[in-house]
Amino acid sequence: MATCTLVTGAASGIGQAVCQLLLAHGEEIVAADLSAEALSASFGTNPHVLCVAGDLTTADGFANLTNALKSRFEAVKGFVHCAGFDCARPLGFIADETVHKLVAVHAGFPIQFLGWLAKKGNHAEGCSCVCISSLSAHEGAKGHVAYAAAKGAVEGFLKPAAAELLPKGIRLNALVLGVVQTEMAMTWMNKLTPDQLSDLQKDYPLGLGLPVDIAHVIAFLLGAESRWITGQTLICDGGHSLT
Ligand SMILES: NC(=O)c1ccc[n+]([C@@H]2O[C@H](COP(=O)([O-])OP(=O)(O)OC[C@H]3O[C@@H](n4cnc5c(N)ncnc54)[C@H](O)[C@@H]3O)[C@@H](O)[C@H]2O)c1
Repeated sequence: MATCTLVTGAASGIGQAVCQLLLAHGEEIVAADLSAEALSASFGTNPHVLCVAGDLTTADGFANLTNALKSRFEAVKGFVHCAGFDCARPLGFIADETVHKLVAVHAGFPIQFLGWLAKKGNHAEGCSCVCISSLSAHEGAKGHVAYAAAKGAVEGFLKPAAAELLPKGIRLNALVLGVVQTEMAMTWMNKLTPDQLSDLQKDYPLGLGLPVDIAHVIAFLLGAESRWITGQTLICDGGHSLT
């Protein structure tokens, strides 16, 4: 049976690192992201990657992705949801539209996709799914109210969704991440003064995260080695919460 792992946000940061690791393990990937150009720059014409460009929060984007996936593969063996964005704005400056978009991309899309998997039965034996939350939902990260709300939604749906998916043999877990050096983090890290950057680095005894650090944890959660783990959140933060 032709199976694949769907990785969203595949053209950048953590999603891209996950794809590279899974490809090195001989996996077939469906790589989803906003821009066809960015996907092409990441994967070229690799025959083991089916690139699907589009906005996952739109009905067309969702249909396009699931249709493309079904056209090439019989079943999904893994799902890693890395697509997302942050929008640093203090209270009073957050547009309602931004709040909706954040919740839609971080929580709405995975809920819809997991529903599609469960309802249509398009999953392979041992299917495992990973969503990503953030320490922003746990700490007083000023300026990240809307992003933190969206990540809180991810942690909120995790357990009920995992419970519903369990009888179908689908596992679902989430990572709670500290700062990982990707485009997303760089948008605000580049604005820090040298002193602020130095303080941030001191808050991470094992150093700031690299995308590949997270990719290895995700590969574990996707694989059979973690077959006894579902409905759990795992904090990956370079020791930050111990400081
Ligand atoms: N980098 C960090 O410090 C950090 C910390 C905590 C959590 N996270 C989470 O990790 C995940 C991956 O983030 P990253 O740091 O790799 O970010 P990134 O910006 O490098 O990559 C995110 C990708 O998602 C894509 N994307 C955004 N909206 C989309 C949409 N509507 N449809 C399709 N694709 C879309 C972007 O085009 C981009 O390529 C995100 O959920 C993020 O919130 C990151």
